[in-house]
Amino acid sequence: MMKIAIIGGTGVYDPQILNNIRDQEIATPYGVVRFKSGEYAGKEVAFLPRHGSNHSIPPHLINYRANIWAMKKVGVQNIIATTAVGSLNLAMKPGDFVLIDQFLDFIKNRTTTFYEGGERGVAHLDVTTPYCPSVRTLLAETASRLGISLHQQGTYVCTEGPRFETPAEIRMFAKLGGDVVGMTNVPEVILAREAEICYATVSMVTNFAAGISPQPLTHQEVVEAMAANSENIKKLILSAIES
Ligand code: HPA
Repeated sequence: MMKIAIIGGTGVYDPQILNNIRDQEIATPYGVVRFKSGEYAGKEVAFLPRHGSNHSIPPHLINYRANIWAMKKVGVQNIIATTAVGSLNLAMKPGDFVLIDQFLDFIKNRTTTFYEGGERGVAHLDVTTPYCPSVRTLLAETASRLGISLHQQGTYVCTEGPRFETPAEIRMFAKLGGDVVGMTNVPEVILAREAEICYATVSMVTNFAAGISPQPLTHQEVVEAMAANSENIKKLILSAIES
């Protein structure tokens, strides 16, 4: 049976979209990972809310290596991830979905590899195409069939967080070619590539980034914008899994 995982970001916590849900607890070299598994359209689907089921884990403390290791261990072949993002690109507005295809890595204190020498050795991963073309194509085609508008490309800037950015940082990121900014996609995408899992992310724009937005940002604003779009993200992911 094809095994798929949904890694839900801010606002995507509800496993009830699946049938026959069960709790799973998987041991990894980095700690135990707890998540739900269920079925949808004849496929086995794991559901892992990245921040915990009640948003208790901040971006810089997520156990990215344990999460991806656990997905690999249970046989996941494809991951559809969601992320809430701020936008630096005036064409990508709050409420829009962006199928990111590149990233800029501005994290500071996270390990981004399973290969740290020793028994597992050293690896230098090619990230010319960081996000899996087949899952990206599937998501783009599904969105178009459902009439959900989706930007087909975008460069994701990953910051360390948990604070939001300064307007000066946002101006710098925009000059460097960033379109959206978030705090979690690195190292998640990298580790999925190392684990040879086909991984793609739908970013959901919740706000214009600091300095672009006229008001100071709040987490509440991000959560409310995600809630408004949660039906569309559910529809998109479930229809993609179904097809
Ligand atoms: N910055 C960083 N992460 C985010 C933002 C933002 O503006 N919005 C949602 N996640």
